[in-house]
Formats: sequence, structure tokens, C-alpha cells
Amino acid sequence: MNLLHVDSGILGGNSVTRQLSAAVVDQWKARNSGLTVTYRDLASAPLGHLTADHLGGNAAGLDAGLKKDVAAGAEALDEFLAADVVVVGAPMYNFSIPSQLKAWIDRIAVRGKTFRYTEKGPEGLAGGKKVIVVSSRGGFYNAENGLAAIDHQEPYLRAVFGFLGITDIEFVRAEGVAVSPEQKQKAIDDAGKAIAHPAFAKAA
Ligand SMILES: Cc1cc2nc3c(=O)[nH]c(=O)nc-3n(C[C@H](O)[C@H](O)[C@H](O)COP(=O)(O)O)c2cc1C
Repeated sequence: MNLLHVDSGILGGNSVTRQLSAAVVDQWKARNSGLTVTYRDLASAPLGHLTADHLGGNAAGLDAGLKKDVAAGAEALDEFLAADVVVVGAPMYNFSIPSQLKAWIDRIAVRGKTFRYTEKGPEGLAGGKKVIVVSSRGGFYNAENGLAAIDHQEPYLRAVFGFLGITDIEFVRAEGVAVSPEQKQKAIDDAGKAIAHPAFAKAA
């Protein structure tokens, strides 16, 4: 079984999502023998923004830097397609996701590879995977405080992975980490408990 681990937070050692996504991967390793893990750090090795040249399909005329980036995007797509489980560290940045993570999504959402349009509408081609999103945000976004409507992180990730055909999407959340040191620790501890639960990280 292949597990793809993707981190996107820019805060290195202080990152909540990095700490928790590593804990998720450790659980999968502990509970599933023979797991192959591929790691991609989108902050230290970012993919470039998508351009018309990337979509052109002909690498011959591209300069060396762009050729390298196109090849890196193809590698990212292959890793995603080969994965049975995808663990994504996804902090909320400005109500959405880090641009590094968006750049990765732009490389894995590829017409004819991970989705296609049919007469009946769009069809995801990357089904059969499990996606676990490790999410962290400074505040809280829910119906009670009226801020759910500006959460463009979780609904967006659900939509994009769903569009690619993935129905098994799970969120591990650490919320309110900027509210106080106590709330941050509580959020990390609660997420840690969810990760340590016996039902978590078991292959179907
Ligand atoms: C550039 C930046 C933008 C952020 N934007 C938001 C935001 O819009 N809403 C929010 O609740 N928290 C926001 N935060 C707080 C982060 O979501 C929170 O600190 C999270 O833990 C960051 O992930 P990390 O700990 O893995 O680095 C932002 C943090 C950074 C660094």
C-alpha cells in the first residue's frame, strides 16, 4: 500500500499541521505493515504556478527551468495517482489554503488523468483513495459564530478531492490555535487523541 504525505505549511518546526500530519503517518505505519511512504514538502520544494506553457503539452520549446518544473508536476501527478492514502497538511491561510498547496492541486487536477467531462457532467477518475486532511486554523469557523461562510479551506478541499472522484475524505482539525496558548495546546491534544483512536489509520 502506498501513502503519499504532503505538507504545505511555511512555518517549519512551529507548524501544527506538520506535527499532526507526521503523527497521522506514524499511525498508518504502525497499523499497516508494508506501507510505502512518499513525502513531498511543498514549502521547501514548491511547484511553480501553472502557466499556459505548462498546459501546452510540448516541453521541447521550454526553457530549462520550466522543463524542470513541468517534470516536477508530472512526478507529483504520478505520486498522487499511485497513492492509496494521501495525507495532506493544510493550514488555513487567508481563509483558504497556502498557495503552495494550490499549486500542487493545479498539477494533480488534470483533465483525462484525474477527471473528465462527459455528457452527464464531470467525472472523477481518481476514486478509490483515502484522503486525510490535517487542518489547522487560528480561529473558529462554524454556524454558531457566523463565520462558516468565510471558510474556503475545508469546503474547497472537500470539493476539489470530490471532483477528482474521492469519496473517502477525513479531516483531522486543530482549531483556534491563535486564540491562546491553552487553546492551541488543547486543539493539538484533541487532534492527537483522534489520531490515536483505535479506529483511525486502519486500511479498509
Ligand atoms: C500567512 C498566514 C495566514 C493565515 N490566515 C489565517 C486565516 O485566514 N484564518 C485563520 O483562522 N487563521 C489564519 N492563520 C493562522 C493559521 O491557520 C494557523 O496558525 C495554523 O496553525 C498555521 O498552520 P501551521 O501551524 O501548520 O503552520 C494564518 C497564518 C498564516 C501564517
